[in-house]
Amino acid sequence: MSSNRLLLRHPSLRRPRQRSHPQWWRHQLLRSFGTPRWYDLQSKRGSPEPPTLNVQQLQSSFSSKGLSLDEMVTLSGAHSIGVSHCSSFSNRLYSFNSTYPQDPSMDRGFAAFLKTKCPYGGSNAETTVPLDVVSPNRLDVRYYKNLRNHKGLFTSDQSLWSDPSTAYIVKENANNHAEWAAKFGAAMVRMGSIQVLTGNQGEIRMNCRMVN
Ligand code: HEM
Repeated sequence: MSSNRLLLRHPSLRRPRQRSHPQWWRHQLLRSFGTPRWYDLQSKRGSPEPPTLNVQQLQSSFSSKGLSLDEMVTLSGAHSIGVSHCSSFSNRLYSFNSTYPQDPSMDRGFAAFLKTKCPYGGSNAETTVPLDVVSPNRLDVRYYKNLRNHKGLFTSDQSLWSDPSTAYIVKENANNHAEWAAKFGAAMVRMGSIQVLTGNQGEIRMNCRMVN
């Protein structure tokens, strides 16, 4: 049996019938991680896009899959849960550019906090930090509020606020949880239907970053 079918048979991933049910959204999120589609969205090489991209680069990646600018910003709200390894953002703390070792667009207190978790040259490769330090276990619009407070973890996150072409969407999402949640659900469903692989055309990765 293919691993895709195995996943779909797993009772914890059976699709709850109603969209209003929180499990339904959880299912959609897991579904998009559990198949190759999400990683295909991220890169043709099969490994995720670097978190150092700017808005133009992100937009080009998303639009190549038929996703709009609004959907890109809305889907990025998934960074309201989960964790990141230090290596995904430590350049912003220690080696940003030749003028600023620390990214000046990052809140100083936030940077100081991150440095305690990810000390220069001293962090364990397994160390992780929540993507949303304020409400790490809740899928909410705090991610966007963090961006407004210059507490986005990745350059790609923070650039959504620093770039005027997306800042207004960040603002809108930050101010309206219900509207964002509805857009997020719809965008997740759309993303879930991009280049669907079935049967043994694809696989469920054991390690998100690598082909099995
Ligand atoms: C906009 C482009 C995106 C980039 C550049 C990006 C990049 C990243 C990076 C670098 C990490 C942390 C990896 C690590 O260090 O362990 C991460 C984690 C995560 N991303 Fe994204 N991401 C993007 C979009 C998305 C989207 C669209 C979703 C879902 C709709 C998503 C959901 C997540 C989740 C849930 C985690 C946490 C995973 C965990 O806790 O293990 N990301 N992302």
